Amino acid sequence: MEDNNELIPIRPTPLADYPGPLGLLWRLRKDLLSIWPESAYQEEFFGGPVMKNHMYVANSPDTVEHVLVKNNDNYERKSPYMRKALEPLLGDGLFVSDGELWRERRRLEQPAFHPSHFQAYGQSMSDIVVNTCERWDSEHLGKEIRVLPEMAWLTAEIISQCMFDYPLGLKKSRQIVDGFADFQASVEQFDLSAFFGWPEWLPNIPQWRRVSSHARKIHVIVEDIIAMGKAGKVRDNTLLSHLLATQKQASPVIHMSEEQVRNEAVVILMAGHETTANSLSWAIYLISQYPRVEEKLLAELKRVLNGRPATYEDLSRLKYTRAIFEEAMRLYPPVPILSRVALEGEIIKDRNVPAESIMLVIPWLLHRHELLWDKPHHFIPERFTDESTRKHDKYAYVPFSAGPRFCLGAAFGLMEATICLATIMQRFSLKMSDKFTPGYECRLTLRPSNGLPMVVKRREI
Ligand code: HEM
Repeated sequence: MEDNNELIPIRPTPLADYPGPLGLLWRLRKDLLSIWPESAYQEEFFGGPVMKNHMYVANSPDTVEHVLVKNNDNYERKSPYMRKALEPLLGDGLFVSDGELWRERRRLEQPAFHPSHFQAYGQSMSDIVVNTCERWDSEHLGKEIRVLPEMAWLTAEIISQCMFDYPLGLKKSRQIVDGFADFQASVEQFDLSAFFGWPEWLPNIPQWRRVSSHARKIHVIVEDIIAMGKAGKVRDNTLLSHLLATQKQASPVIHMSEEQVRNEAVVILMAGHETTANSLSWAIYLISQYPRVEEKLLAELKRVLNGRPATYEDLSRLKYTRAIFEEAMRLYPPVPILSRVALEGEIIKDRNVPAESIMLVIPWLLHRHELLWDKPHHFIPERFTDESTRKHDKYAYVPFSAGPRFCLGAAFGLMEATICLATIMQRFSLKMSDKFTPGYECRLTLRPSNGLPMVVKRREI
C-alpha cells in the first residue's frame, strides 16, 4: 500500500499510567478518547469492576461479533447512561427503545430505506448540495467558513426533504443544528450515577432542565413538520407518511400517539444528519492535510464528473471518493462508543461478566487496533478502494455498528456522503488557516472542535 505521507492526523496521546478510579472518572467527564492507555489499542477484551459496576470492552472482531451479533439478545439494551442522556430528546424512539417496541418500529421505518427509493434520494442530495455550493460561491469565496455547521445544515436539509418531504430552509436547519450542539454540550459526559450505582431514576435537576430546554427547541420544529404532514401537504410513501398512517390503525401494537410519532421523527432527523455531517467534516479536514490524496481525488472527479455535480448514477465510479469517507470514519468514528447492558452473566475470553455489566464496543479503539490494522493511525484511503484491498475483518470496522441494531441509514449515509463530498471538492479547495490548531470534541458523537474553520477557494475545473 503506497503512502509517502508520514503525517499522523490529530489524536490524543495515550495515557502513560492508570490515573486511579477518581482520576479516570474526572477524565471521562471531559473526554472519552484520552483515557485509554497504549495497551487498550492491543488488547482483545478487557475491563472489570469500576466503583459499584462492572464494565468490559469487547475489542477484537470475535468479541464484537459475539456481543453485537451472535449473542445480541443478551446485549440488546442500551446502557443506562445512553438512555438517560438521549431520552429527553428522543423519548422512546428507535435509537433507544428495545424489545417488541423496537422490533415493531424498525419494521415500520425500514421501507423508507429500500434501495428502490435511492435514485430519487440521490437526485435530491445532488440538488441540495448544488444549492450549498452556489451559496458559497456568492457569499464565501476567499473567506473563512465553519465547515462542521455547514455540513450539518446540508445534511439536515437532505434528511428532511428525503424522509419528510419538508424543505427546512437555512433558518430552521440552523436552529436544529444549534439545538443539538447545545443539547450535547449540556449532557454530562458520563453520568456518575451509572458508576456509583445510584438509582437510574435519580434525576440531576439543573442539568435535566438545561437538557430539556434544548430538546424542546428541536421538538418545536419537528412538530411543525408533522403538522404539515397531517395537513396532507407532503407526498405519500415518505417515512413521515408511514408514521402518520399508524394513527389511523386501531391495533394498540401499531397505533402511535402524537408524542411517539414525534419521537421517531426526531430520531431520523438527528441520527440522519449529525453523524454524516461529522464524517464529511473529518474527510474535508483529512483531504486538506494530504496533498497526495487530494490529487488522486481530483483526478477521479475529473474522469467521472468533468465539472458536473455528482448523481446517483456516478456512485459506482466514485470509488476513491467513497474510500476517503470510509477511511475518515475509521479514524474518526462519528459514534465512537457503543454501550449495552448484559441481561445475564456469562464468560467471555475466560473472564466472568456478571449480569448488569456495562459492555462497550469502542469503534475508536477497534479501528486503531495495532493487531488489526497496518499503520493504524495513518490516513490511507487505499485500504477501502476495492475488495482486494479490504484486508480487515468485517468486525474490525463497525462505524455503523453491527447485527440487528445496524444503522438503518448506513447505505443512505454512504450515498449522501459520496455525492456531497465529490460535488463540493470538485468545485472548492478548503484549507485550514495557519492560526487554527485542529482538535476534537467527543461527547455523544465525535466531531472536529470549534466548527472546523477553513478558507474556501474556487477551483479551476
Ligand atoms: C456516516 C453516517 C452514519 C453513521 C456513522 C451512523 C452510525 C450509527 C450507529 C453506530 C448506530 C448504532 C448505535 C448503536 O448500536 O448503539 C446507528 C443507528 C441508527 N442510525 Fe445511523 N449512522 C449514520 C447515518 C445515518 C442516517 C443517514 C440515518 C437516517 C437516515 C441513520 C439512522 C439511524 C437509526 C434510525 C439508527 C437506530 C437503528 C436501531 O437501533 O435499530 N443513520 N447509526
